[in-house]
Amino acid sequence: MTARLAIAGGSPVRSQPFPPQNTVGEEERRAVLEVLDSGVLSRFLGEWSDDFLGGRQVKTCEQAFAERFGAKHAVSVNSATTGLQVAVAAAGIEPGDEVIVSPYTMSASAAAVVLHDAIPVFADVEDSTYGLDPAAVRVAITPRTRAVLVTHLFGHPARMDELLELGREHELAIIEDAAQSIGATWRGGETGTLGTVGVLSLNYHKIIHSGEGGMVLTQDDRAGQIARLVRNHGEAVVDELGLDDVANTVGSNYRLSEIHAAIAVEQLKKLDALLAHRRELGEALTDRLRDLPGIEPAEVVEGATHSYYVYPVRLNLDELKCVSRDAIAKALEAEGIPVSQGYVRPLYLQAMYQRRIARGTKGAPWTSGHWQGEVSYEAGICPVAERLHESELLLLDVCRVPLDTNDVGDVANAFEKVVANLDALREVEVA
Ligand SMILES: Cc1ncc(COP(=O)(O)O)c(C=O)c1O
Repeated sequence: MTARLAIAGGSPVRSQPFPPQNTVGEEERRAVLEVLDSGVLSRFLGEWSDDFLGGRQVKTCEQAFAERFGAKHAVSVNSATTGLQVAVAAAGIEPGDEVIVSPYTMSASAAAVVLHDAIPVFADVEDSTYGLDPAAVRVAITPRTRAVLVTHLFGHPARMDELLELGREHELAIIEDAAQSIGATWRGGETGTLGTVGVLSLNYHKIIHSGEGGMVLTQDDRAGQIARLVRNHGEAVVDELGLDDVANTVGSNYRLSEIHAAIAVEQLKKLDALLAHRRELGEALTDRLRDLPGIEPAEVVEGATHSYYVYPVRLNLDELKCVSRDAIAKALEAEGIPVSQGYVRPLYLQAMYQRRIARGTKGAPWTSGHWQGEVSYEAGICPVAERLHESELLLLDVCRVPLDTNDVGDVANAFEKVVANLDALREVEVA
């Protein structure tokens, strides 16, 4: 006899809500006060001078990130969104180039391509790594493809051996959206440093954060130079720099303030301990979920380490006797375990792609004359992403401070209870 499900009137596994993450403490407070006391809240100037590259905190922050991630260049920006725009320029993309992108990522990953007047081509994802499927990428390559923009989703690296090999074979830049995967590695290398150029996010929701912020990482001198120019009105300084090649140097203001940089320095010092904690909780949860029928826990493929930014669970609906994801999610929530159903709608289903209206009213970048290809954004082009989103994926935000192994134990207990009561759950679903 198993305990009655909370959704059917039984007692919940957990009655206490999960407290929110807060990684900010005395260290950040002191660092911010020091900046405030200095009176210099940002040092950047959009003209060629000592201050073109930012102030003391920005430089210290960039050096710390370059060292921690083994990157020759770390260029701070005010978000991963602007960092991705910088990265597309730094990868040498031309308007009209095709860039292969995951449909299952934040909209900013593909929008960075559109904002450069280039064309996103969506290739399907895997249901193990949740990253781009190398076989689908191969099929999507055309003579117009110049780059693959790889997202390491939920904190697990995409299959980089094959993706980097495709890049070499077809002379494609590899741009990494590592916004969610700070500290996750592939064969010992840090995500964000494996390809041509990579981007980390430091927004409030991430493993470490400075409120808003991002970091562009690259080993390539030219890409590093373009990143610094695009971040800070590059067109205004290329003459003083005597640059012959001014392509992709037109810039904006994507600068990080001294306050944000000072916070990021303190947060970076905490990264390894936070990652170790996330891994401990992620692995403990996987150990408990692994043998439950119908439940596919987070996978860590050979060569990868996970940062468990989010903990994904894939449902095998056949094994779950066709009880729907919605019913499972509602039963878990009734047990006191908050879950999200799916992640984002596959991006090509957004109005921008469906209507091909992005910049202005006339269909740019698809109609701007730089591109004469064909691309489909029809429903059904990435069936794995659609299946995950519509019916199979659950996301949990439980591998983080201040939670501990007892908390993830509650999560596992709730899954066990729900799986042991599928017949009862089906009756609730029917009623
Ligand atoms: C995969 C991915 N890319 C890009 C971004 C954009 O990051 P930011 O909020 O720092 O601009 C996010 C943010 O959640 C993300 O998850």
